[in-house]
Amino acid sequence: MKRDFLTLFDLSSDEHKALFHRARGLKEARRQRRVVSTMAGRTLVMIFEKASTRTRLSFEAAMTQLGGSAIDLSAANSQMSRGEPLADTARVTGRYCDVVMMRTFGDERLAEFAKHCEVPVINGLTDGGHPVQILTDLFTIEERLGAVAGKTLAFIGDTASNMGRSFTEGAKLYGYQLRLASPKGYHPAAEVVKHSPDHVHLLSDPKEAVRGADVVITDVWTSMGQEAESKQRLADLAGFQVDGALMKLAKPDAMFLHCLPAHRGEEVSADVIDGPQSAVWDEAENRLHVQKALLETVVQASERLREMEPALRAARG
Ligand code: CP
Ligand code: NVA
Repeated sequence: MKRDFLTLFDLSSDEHKALFHRARGLKEARRQRRVVSTMAGRTLVMIFEKASTRTRLSFEAAMTQLGGSAIDLSAANSQMSRGEPLADTARVTGRYCDVVMMRTFGDERLAEFAKHCEVPVINGLTDGGHPVQILTDLFTIEERLGAVAGKTLAFIGDTASNMGRSFTEGAKLYGYQLRLASPKGYHPAAEVVKHSPDHVHLLSDPKEAVRGADVVITDVWTSMGQEAESKQRLADLAGFQVDGALMKLAKPDAMFLHCLPAHRGEEVSADVIDGPQSAVWDEAENRLHVQKALLETVVQASERLREMEPALRAARG
């Protein structure tokens, strides 16, 4: 028995609250250079089937700073690229480490890995979601605006992206209103929106979405794996750039978020991402603090479950 984190729904609402509280404490500990050793003797394996800068750095730094270690297993340099079955890789990986973070393509690949791996698995981005990034973004909003519940978030551009989908899943859970402005064909599917029916609003006009918003968000127009569609996407999304004129329609103290990497001149103008309303560098830093809290949550919960296993087996007869 173990606790995976594949989507935002894998934590209870109490765990979500405790996670942000703990992340704030860990951020303060890091500021004071106080050593926290909750992952001493534990090992994280990071599996990357797509590129990464922040996810790789922040997870490895998180484990190291908590007294543990991290191993980076790039799919391209492992037997995965030579056709070893995913389930076999998962079985073996779980025998060496205490927790796995995986970045891959289809969500079914992540689910297959988690099913065959005996230790907790964290979603480090799939085609269908980027839940560790959304946790961090919501933490960053709380940090700057005091709370995320009751706030209006406007996401502009390709809202069917993994970022748009995870923000949609989080709306009811965290109690924010989410306006998604996209051209036709670029909104999340109905089965994603159904999780937050009273909290998510599908719009086609970026101005309508941003008017009076507390937070303005965008993401790349071509996500990893969609490179062949890039030209078409640029054309379809051309009117959906977050620029200075659009930001003026939001609240005067509205914050701008982008998970990075960004393409200045495409989904966002340079004056917005490099301007005073942008929180992108805090957002990137906060990956470290939030993921430390998440690693503690899943590893400690899984260890508690494992300790209870003999008693549970005995009770079952
Ligand atoms: N935001 C994010 O996940 O960045 P990387 O792709 O660099 O990990
Ligand atoms: N939607 C982007 C996010 C990158 C962190 C992608 O999947 O490429």
